[in-house]
Amino acid sequence: MSRTYVVTGAASGIGKATSELLTERGHRVIGVDIHDAEVVVDLSTDEGRAALLEGVTAASGGTIDAIIANAGLATSTPTTVAVNFFGAVSTLELLRPLLSGSDAPRAVATASMASLFPADQELLDALLAGDEPAALHRAGELVAAGEQAAGQIYGTTKQALAKWIRRNAPTAEWAGAGIPLNAIAPGVVETPMTSAFTGSTEAREAILQQVPMPLNGIFAPRDVAYLLAWLTSEENAHLCGQVVFIDGGSDAVIRGDSTW
Ligand SMILES: NC(=O)c1ccc[n+]([C@@H]2O[C@H](COP(=O)([O-])OP(=O)(O)OC[C@H]3O[C@@H](n4cnc5c(N)ncnc54)[C@H](O)[C@@H]3O)[C@@H](O)[C@H]2O)c1
Repeated sequence: MSRTYVVTGAASGIGKATSELLTERGHRVIGVDIHDAEVVVDLSTDEGRAALLEGVTAASGGTIDAIIANAGLATSTPTTVAVNFFGAVSTLELLRPLLSGSDAPRAVATASMASLFPADQELLDALLAGDEPAALHRAGELVAAGEQAAGQIYGTTKQALAKWIRRNAPTAEWAGAGIPLNAIAPGVVETPMTSAFTGSTEAREAILQQVPMPLNGIFAPRDVAYLLAWLTSEENAHLCGQVVFIDGGSDAVIRGDSTW
């Protein structure tokens, strides 16, 4: 049966591959991005988030079947905080009412295996408190403190997003409304975001030291699309608050059996 999917970050990489896969399978995809999409909005701003709701409501007629909150940035800047955490959470919360008309509503967010890297606690606390001005301020301080401190911004946003999913998935708004809400945590995927890490043999070897991927190494966005498509399909009715690592084994190497 044809379903209606909203995919953010649809113009590139994982979002583009997912939109293509779902379209090939006969579904309707409403692509959202800051450029080259059906709904063009900037998810780093309140205005852009309001325009997201307006644009998706108009494009869908008011009912959607699934949300794939995937847009993200990997720069060490405050904008990464605005897009990766507040943009993703706003996408899920603002669009959730549009799922109420679906027989099989589903939602998923794209976190990252980088959520396992050391986080900045002050930024993490501000994110999980939902305090965007404080989080942007802290990100500015990390940038001012230099490359190493600023380098914590990306992973911290992804840890916060994974934790937000864990906290919210079992609640009345999500599980209580029959909506499986989950996250994925990719390892290194070959997209424009990671071109600096995957463009040469030396670069690939260096990133694999940081992100060990013993199972088949760096992979293509289409492989992530298969997982996102399944998590948001009618077949997934019982996964709740899971963060599924699609990472060639980096989680199993880094965390071993400290989680299960
Ligand atoms: N590529 C990887 O190795 C990898 C690993 C783990 C997680 N991720 C995550 O996967 C998601 C997709 O990344 P990708 O690798 O496909 O990167 P990408 O850069 O190819 O695609 C990201 C898309 O998000 C869009 N975007 C950025 N800022 C936006 C904004 N303000 N408003 C609306 N759209 C915006 C971009 O325009 C782009 O089309 C991201 O959340 C990223 O953090 C990627």
